[in-house]
Amino acid sequence: METKIVKITEPNSKEAKETLRTAADILSAGGLVVMPTETVYGLGGDATSGDAAMKIYQAKGRPSDNPLIIHIAEPRDAEEYCHTSPLYYKLAKAFMPGPLTVIMSKKETIPPSVTGGRDTVAVRCPAHPVANALIRTFGKPIAAPSANVSGRPSPTCAKYVIEDLCGRVDMIIDGGECEIGLESTIVMIKDDSLILLRPGGITFDALTLVCESVTIDESVTNRMKEGDVVLSPGTMYRHYSPSTPVVLLDGDDESFIDFIHAEQSRTSGKCAVICYDGEEKLIGEKNVITIGAKEDLASHGKHLFTSLRVADTFGCEIIYAHLPQKEGLGLALYNRMIRAAAHTVKKIQKGN
Ligand code: TXA
Ligand code: MG
Repeated sequence: METKIVKITEPNSKEAKETLRTAADILSAGGLVVMPTETVYGLGGDATSGDAAMKIYQAKGRPSDNPLIIHIAEPRDAEEYCHTSPLYYKLAKAFMPGPLTVIMSKKETIPPSVTGGRDTVAVRCPAHPVANALIRTFGKPIAAPSANVSGRPSPTCAKYVIEDLCGRVDMIIDGGECEIGLESTIVMIKDDSLILLRPGGITFDALTLVCESVTIDESVTNRMKEGDVVLSPGTMYRHYSPSTPVVLLDGDDESFIDFIHAEQSRTSGKCAVICYDGEEKLIGEKNVITIGAKEDLASHGKHLFTSLRVADTFGCEIIYAHLPQKEGLGLALYNRMIRAAAHTVKKIQKGN
């Protein structure tokens, strides 16, 4: 398949409107369009078409029992596709449009293949002007998982979408770098409570300001075993992983530097390191990627997936990174990194 690659920098320009019209026509004809969002790029198709959903699973190489998020232009558009509640509108008022996905029981307007046969549907109203304009131009919701080949890190710029999906989709819209860089926070509504299934840009603390009862699902921090009953099927699959094994180091910054020095000599320089700004001066710049100042968690989020992809190109034996703390946005960083590392954590101490 030939993939059209187009750039949109100013969604309100005449040229952009024409491009969005072409993209919407592709969606109407059952085709696939990759769109930028504020979290990560999404691999979009018509959310009301079972055939389009099957095409998405195929293009991504994803099992068809792992459901898709439907993207809407305005919070109230959810009415047509699922059973909303006052809690949904409280969440919408606080966080939409934005990086929050809400799971509710679905209506028949969404075909079963979109939701992997589940009786619930995940709904998100993206803030990105290009995503929002595309949904409006199309006039229907867009089903979109992250625009990576299943198992690879989510793409936060068009370059990595092209690497993964060129030849597998009809169009890729390049809207520049994604602002947040981590996928949306996912919550499931259960009566007046929320279950946090995937942490993201909207933190646990922010959710508790809107809803008194928020629980963190076990799968956010723990390894799930085959046979476990999971609320979100995506948590069962290998995720975010580069081909080079990733090991997270649990210890203070001084021990981190000592450990890396020792590993650099053991592997004759064939170890990649993802670290904080400034640490490259202590460990040398070869095979090293910085993701921002130690305290700047938003920067870590923005650069996390790209750092994993770049580290994978170094041809090293192993990739080392700090084990993130679980507070605030750190919980989302922890959740992604622990899975990229297949839960491999090494405790380090000075002198080790
Ligand atoms: O930021 C995001 O959420 C991006 C952008 C493109 O919007 N999308 C995204 O989609 O990350 P995806 O498919 O890569 O991740 C969605 C996760 C999957 O793990 C899936 O299992 C879960 O949401 N999910 C979707 N619908 C669900 C449902 N009805 N019940 C439980 N889990 C669901
Ligand atoms: Mg994904």
